[in-house]
Amino acid sequence: MLAQSLFENITYSFDTFLQAVGKETTATQGIKHSTVSVKNFFMANRIDWYCFYDKIANHVLFLDTGNPVITGSRFLDKTLQELTVSWENTSVFLTHFHVDHSGNLAYCLDRGSNGAYFIAPDAYDDSLVSQFLSWTRSSDAIRCDEQACQHLELLFGKDYFDGVNLDKCHHVGAGDAFDIAGYHLEVLPTPGHVSEHACLIDYEKGHLVAGDHLIYAKPGTMQLKPDQHLMYHYIESIKTLDSYKLSSVLMSHHDPLFYSAEIHEFIHHTWKSYEDFLPNFHERIKNLGPITVYGLASAKANQYPQGINTFAPSAQIRRIALMFGSLEALYDYELMERRLDDDGAYVYFTKRRL
Ligand SMILES: [Fe+2]
Repeated sequence: MLAQSLFENITYSFDTFLQAVGKETTATQGIKHSTVSVKNFFMANRIDWYCFYDKIANHVLFLDTGNPVITGSRFLDKTLQELTVSWENTSVFLTHFHVDHSGNLAYCLDRGSNGAYFIAPDAYDDSLVSQFLSWTRSSDAIRCDEQACQHLELLFGKDYFDGVNLDKCHHVGAGDAFDIAGYHLEVLPTPGHVSEHACLIDYEKGHLVAGDHLIYAKPGTMQLKPDQHLMYHYIESIKTLDSYKLSSVLMSHHDPLFYSAEIHEFIHHTWKSYEDFLPNFHERIKNLGPITVYGLASAKANQYPQGINTFAPSAQIRRIALMFGSLEALYDYELMERRLDDDGAYVYFTKRRL
C-alpha cells in the first residue's frame, strides 16, 4: 500500500453492525448502519458505514467501502452473509475517494460486485506533488521529506485505481439515480470536501446520504490545487441544502440525523460557521502582509514550541492544504488578491481600498 507509514498502528473495532435506520417496511428492509471505532487514523476516529438492502430485489447497494486497514474487509462479506445476498447482487456507490471510503473498492469488485458508481476524481499526474510544493512555496525540509511527498501522492489519488477492475467502474453525475429499497436516490454533486464528492438524495422522502459533505468539524477545506473553488462550492451547496426539506441524513463520521428541526440546526450551524469563518480569518491574517500558503501555515503554528515543525511532515501537509483552501476562498470571495511569482508560488494579499 502507498505511504504505509501513514497507516501504522491503526486499530479498529465494530461497535454496531447492520442496525436498522429509520422505519422499515415489510416490502423492503431499507438501510443498515454499522459503526466502527478507529484509533491512530489521521482523518477520523469513527466511521459510519451504510448499505441499502432491497429485500424484494435481493440487492445491496454499499455506500462507500471502508478500507482493509481502517475497517478491514471482512465486514462486507459478513454483511452479505447476514442479509443472504450474493456478491453478484451488490453495487457500490462511492461518495468520494478518500482512503476510508474507497479502500475496499478493488476488493468489492474482485469478490463479484456488479459495478461501482462515482463521480470521476481529478486525474493523477506525477508532477502534481512538486507543483503543490511550488504553489505553496513549501520549505525545503518538506520538499525533501519522503512521508510528506507520499502523503501528497495519497491525497492526489495516486493509488485510487490500483488493482481496480475499471470495466466495472461507472462515472455518474447530476441526473443519475438509483432505485433501491423504495428510495429514488439522485446523485447530487457536492464538491467541497474534495472535488469529486457526491451525495445521494431522495427529494420526495427528504432523505440525504451526505458522506463527508456534512461533518462535525471546524470550518475548513483542504485544497491541493489553485482554482478548485472548494470552499466556495461548499458554502454555496450548504446554503442550498438548508432550503431542502430533509427528514433524515446519513453521515460518514457521525450518528444519522432525523427530524427536520435537528437537521436544519446542524446544516444551519455548519453554514453559519463557514460564513463567520471567512471574514474572521481574513481579519486575523490581513496585517501579515503578502503571504504564501506555507508562510501562513507557519505563522498559524507559531504558538507551538517548534512552530510548524512541531507536527509530523504528513500533518504539516494537511495544515498547508487547509491554508491553501482558506486563502483560495478569500480570493474567490474577492477579499484578497493573488499573484503568481516567478518561482511558481502563489502570494495572497489584501486588496487596497481606494
Ligand atoms: Fe471520511
